[in-house]
Amino acid sequence: MTYVVTDTCIRCKYLDCVDVCPVDCFNEGEHMLVIHPDECIDCGVCEPECPAEAIVADTQPELESRLELNAKYASAWPNITIKRAPPNDAEAFDGMPNKLEKYFSPDPGPGD
Ligand code: SF4
Ligand code: F3S
Repeated sequence: MTYVVTDTCIRCKYLDCVDVCPVDCFNEGEHMLVIHPDECIDCGVCEPECPAEAIVADTQPELESRLELNAKYASAWPNITIKRAPPNDAEAFDGMPNKLEKYFSPDPGPGD
């Protein structure tokens, strides 16, 4: 198993998760993070740290497409290990439905 970042992260990007991961397996896109499924050691430490509750174990149902998204972009986006300030408008996007369709970007973020 692994943990995955879901589209709940999109445009929230609070970045609390990157501070706690012992193996630095978060990668940064323009609007969300993903977890590298081959590097995650399933410790679960990041899950309760996310204020948006965007991180889940892939044992939850119907997560196959999100796992594929994490695996695909973990290879394409730069690693991030140091927390920065979240976007100024993060709270406006917290809990918004259908963010994948509206706001997903395949572009990389800056990383560390
Ligand atoms: Fe990192 Fe552990 Fe979260 Fe995996 S479960 S991304 S190893 S903090
Ligand atoms: Fe995203 Fe939550 Fe981390 S909003 S950046 S998964 S703390």
